[in-house]
Amino acid sequence: MFNVNVLTLFPDMFPGILGGSIPGKAMEKDLWNLNVIQIRDYATNKHATVDETPFGGGAGMVMRADIIDRCLSDLDNVGEVVYLSPRGKVFDQQMAKKFSKMENITFVCGRYEGIDQRVIDKWNMNEVSIGDFVLSGGEPAVQVLLDSVVRLLPGSLGDETSLQEESFEDGLLEYSHYTRPRNWEGIEVPEVLLSGHHANIAEWRLQERKKITQMRRPDLWKKYIRNEG
Ligand code: ADE
Repeated sequence: MFNVNVLTLFPDMFPGILGGSIPGKAMEKDLWNLNVIQIRDYATNKHATVDETPFGGGAGMVMRADIIDRCLSDLDNVGEVVYLSPRGKVFDQQMAKKFSKMENITFVCGRYEGIDQRVIDKWNMNEVSIGDFVLSGGEPAVQVLLDSVVRLLPGSLGDETSLQEESFEDGLLEYSHYTRPRNWEGIEVPEVLLSGHHANIAEWRLQERKKITQMRRPDLWKKYIRNEG
């Protein structure tokens, strides 16, 4: 079973989106397990302080290294430690696949300005961002990230073939979809999709994927061209 630990100051935010739909069903099927840990339980003083002002001055508060360290040391199935932060490597489908093959993984959700660099270094944390924008904390980021990882676990989706034709699978975005009615508000479904000619349909869909990728994501298109050539 894929075991996930999450260190957070806001355990009430979990399971959140992970309790419903595909990740929720996968949890019911025991394909994965979510262990949520309250960081504050590892504070030592009577006010349960977890953060302090930054050395060198500046805005905000920094989470203490010793408390995060105690939290991690208390786990007997840590696995890779991932720290969610806008400074991290940007999460993508390839990383989702890598994570889905692990047995244990631990996510550290930062709040305030971040966590003391020394505990990041000590645990060799993999710093990961879900995009070039700043969230109030790592909790929504972990949930988004895990949604994409858990659906890749074998047995999670009803139809595993649907994974093969998804966006990013071969560097291109997905083609457009159409269903009944054939004519909706005077707009017809592309003729080729009604032809029953599988090779032509596959070719049309590939061209569609190329066109959409080129238009919307020049960064992906450049990579695709490089790999094809
Ligand atoms: N914490 C705050 N912003 C974040 C982001 N973009 N990705 C991951 N964790 C974050």
